[in-house]
Amino acid sequence: MAAPLHVVTGALGYTGRSLTERLLAAGARVRTLTNSPNRPNPFGPALDIHPLAFDDEGALARSLEGAAVLHNTYWVRFNHRLFTFDQAVRNTRRLFDAAKRAGVGRIVHVSILHADKADDLAYYRGKHQLEDALADLALPHAIIRPGVLFGRGDILVNNIAWALRRLPVFGLFGDGRYRLRPLHVDDMAALMLDHASRQGNTRADAVGPEAFEYRDLVRTIAATIALRRPTLRLPPRLAHAFTKPLDPILGDVVLTWEEVLGLMRGLLDSDAPAAGPTRLTDWARAHQDTLGRRYASEIARRVQRAVDYQQIR
Ligand SMILES: NC(=O)c1ccc[n+]([C@@H]2O[C@H](COP(=O)([O-])OP(=O)(O)OC[C@H]3O[C@@H](n4cnc5c(N)ncnc54)[C@H](OP(=O)(O)O)[C@@H]3O)[C@@H](O)[C@H]2O)c1
Repeated sequence: MAAPLHVVTGALGYTGRSLTERLLAAGARVRTLTNSPNRPNPFGPALDIHPLAFDDEGALARSLEGAAVLHNTYWVRFNHRLFTFDQAVRNTRRLFDAAKRAGVGRIVHVSILHADKADDLAYYRGKHQLEDALADLALPHAIIRPGVLFGRGDILVNNIAWALRRLPVFGLFGDGRYRLRPLHVDDMAALMLDHASRQGNTRADAVGPEAFEYRDLVRTIAATIALRRPTLRLPPRLAHAFTKPLDPILGDVVLTWEEVLGLMRGLLDSDAPAAGPTRLTDWARAHQDTLGRRYASEIARRVQRAVDYQQIR
């Protein structure tokens, strides 16, 4: 009997790549639907690559035929002239509908922690709408809700280290005392795989074993890469304004105001049990020589579609 087919959106990206490693190691067949079919493929012929054909419903459904599970990581990080949350919500609804039409057995959908608690923020509102759409779909599903992920190719933790390496002081948004619980991306992949094999509708907060106040996370990263940097409490709007001149220099959006609000409201924190064992402090120590050496750009990932995330400059 053929191994079950898992379809993963974005297998050449961040979370999707870790998940694909695990799926292949577990003996599954894996197909990816991607906006970047020409990105270097570390999996060779073991990975079947198809376009994410949002504008062709027939092709989208055909690309999902035979799948036991659809793992959906597709989303956009902010509104931009190249992409919007509304578009991402529309596209994801089409993906869900296509999965239903194609007879997919289960959807494992990546959402965000507290997706239903911040409808005034467009990122959260979109994620909330999609969780509701999934509930209406009547197809067994798992909703996995990470807050922050770290590990090979991450953006937030890497870019905190990048800023620490380059700036004499590190500005905090207010007192920096809001908490977050980062989860390693490989533990996220293991959680998704676990929920792929469960029955019925399931949900999990994807949080790690360590909780940090944001200011302590910054100090921990600084200490790990052997830097002494004072942290400075700033009015949040001012601290965010200080990131803005970097955007045109880096050709990116370093951090959106909505992301600052989500962080400060404690939306990256949860009291749920740890979803994986990997401690950020251990991982950062193991990667202290490379962490933050290179800025990780969201926009470059979207524009340089034939380059591996790790190789983007
Ligand atoms: N990374 C985190 O710390 C974090 C935290 C909380 C929640 N999440 C959630 O986790 C999921 C996966 O995130 P990730 O960080 O692993 O992302 P990722 O691998 O960079 O991207 C995941 C997928 O979305 C596609 N995509 C991303 N931005 C896009 C854009 N602007 N236009 C078109 N397609 C776009 C990618 O396209 P390609 O097919 O071209 O690669 C890929 O298929 C998302 O749902 C995200 O909301 C992530």
